[in-house]
Parts: sequence; structure tokens; C-alpha cells
Amino acid sequence: MTIELGMLVPHTPRMCHEDQAPKFLNEIIEGMHQTARVIEDVKPDVIVMISCHWLSSFQHFVDATPEHKGVLTAFECPELISDVRYRYPGDEDLSTQLVEAGIEAGLPIVKVNDPTYVWDYGTVVPLRYLVPNGDIPVIDLSVTWAASLEETYVWGQQIGKVLRESDKRVIFASSGALSHNLVRGPEAMPSLSEQALDRQFIDYLQQSDLSSAWNMLPQYAKNAGVESGGRHLAMLLGVLEGNHKSDYYGYGQSSGSGNVIMTFEPQHAKLHPHPSHTVEAK
Ligand SMILES: [Fe+2]
Repeated sequence: MTIELGMLVPHTPRMCHEDQAPKFLNEIIEGMHQTARVIEDVKPDVIVMISCHWLSSFQHFVDATPEHKGVLTAFECPELISDVRYRYPGDEDLSTQLVEAGIEAGLPIVKVNDPTYVWDYGTVVPLRYLVPNGDIPVIDLSVTWAASLEETYVWGQQIGKVLRESDKRVIFASSGALSHNLVRGPEAMPSLSEQALDRQFIDYLQQSDLSSAWNMLPQYAKNAGVESGGRHLAMLLGVLEGNHKSDYYGYGQSSGSGNVIMTFEPQHAKLHPHPSHTVEAK
């Protein structure tokens, strides 16, 4: 089939337990429930998700474990996320295809098949909302510090190619914030400049102008301190291709970060290669 939907979602730890979430997260939480209903309609065979909190130093990891099962206490915030159980099926076959495609493109990709590996909260928190019944297979991907935005984009392009050629219905989700110069005080908004940069980036995504979003990303990532240096956005832009109908479900703060929920529905009939939406591996 193809990529049925792209997603950009937050994972702020204060929304892990909905009944304990502060009021300022209401818009984001409502947006997560709305997108969960979109996922229900799409009925994907698998969700591929990159998480800003699976931090790899050197290699790009692909979690090919056939069953993801564990108990998460987040080392960054054990007072907010403690003893959280999760269980989701995996997809070893599609994971293996992703790994092979990445290696073939000359990228340092490593397959992880390890039932003792415990997921990070950037993966667990959004999935608690998006797949509340734990009934959709998930493939988790790392962000990789040694990889530039360009390399991450190229890895995203390889992933996008495999997913589009797959006979499965796939959702690709990027879990991470936009501006991310964190401060103390959960209710703190990003600065006005950071909000302006976030808005411009969101505008490009809404207009399906992926080329401008990509051109903006390096300076934006630096100046707004975008989470993971913008790598999760570089991968999303690499995976997406052609025109999309973008839907916006909300924006909210968390300790000075800016978080958005958006979906990107490929417009298959209008697909065409965009000349400036391509970078070469470096
Ligand atoms: Fe985060």
C-alpha cells in the first residue's frame, strides 16, 4: 500500500497520566484524542515512530523486537513517569527491510531485537494516547547525535521509500517538540521569538511547502533550540514526499518548549517530485 499518514506529536511527561495533567495541556491532550480517532479510521498495519528520547550516540537504531513489553520509569523525570507498563506488538519483517535499505544507502543502521530493551518516554507517552489498546504493531527509531540533519533526512528518505513500497498500511510518526529551550516552570511558554519561528515552520507544513520547511530547519533548530537539534523534523521531512493535506490539532507549551500536533495525509493523485526537496548523502 503506502504511507497513509504522517504525524508530528508531542510527548511532554506531564501528559503521561491524563488524570494528573495540568490544565494548560488541555488543547494538546484533546488533539491527541482527535488524532487517535484518525488512526482508528486509517486502520494502519504498523506505526513507525522516531523518538527524541531514544538518544543514540553514533548509529541509527531500529527496534525490530517482535513484542515490545516493559515497565518504564523515566530517568529524566521519575516523579512524573514511574512504573508505567506498556505492551505493543512489533514488526520484525518491516524493521529488517528498513535496516537493509539504510545499510544499502551507506548509513550506519543497527537492528535491535532485544526483549530487555525498555522504551523511552518519548515513545511510550504518545502511544498511550494514539494506540490506547496496544493493538497496532510499532517500530521505534532512535535519533542519532553523530548524524547531521542532512544524514537524518537521507535516512528518512530511505525509510519513506521502503514504507511506500510496502504492502502494509503505514503511519509514520515523529515524536518531539519544536522550540525547546527548557526553563523551570511547567507552564512557561516559549519566548515570542521562538513562538514566531514555530509558527513559521508550522505554516510551511500546513501549506505542504516541505522544501521551505527543510530550508528553514538548520537555522531554526539552532535559534529555537529545537528538540534533538531538529533531527526528528529532518526525518519527518525526509519520509514525506509530494503534496499533503495537513491538519493542525493544537499547540501548547511545556517548561518553555513549543509542542504541536499535526497530521499529513498524502495526496496521491497530485504526487510529483519536488526538485528542491532532495538532498544528497554527505
Ligand atoms: Fe522531549
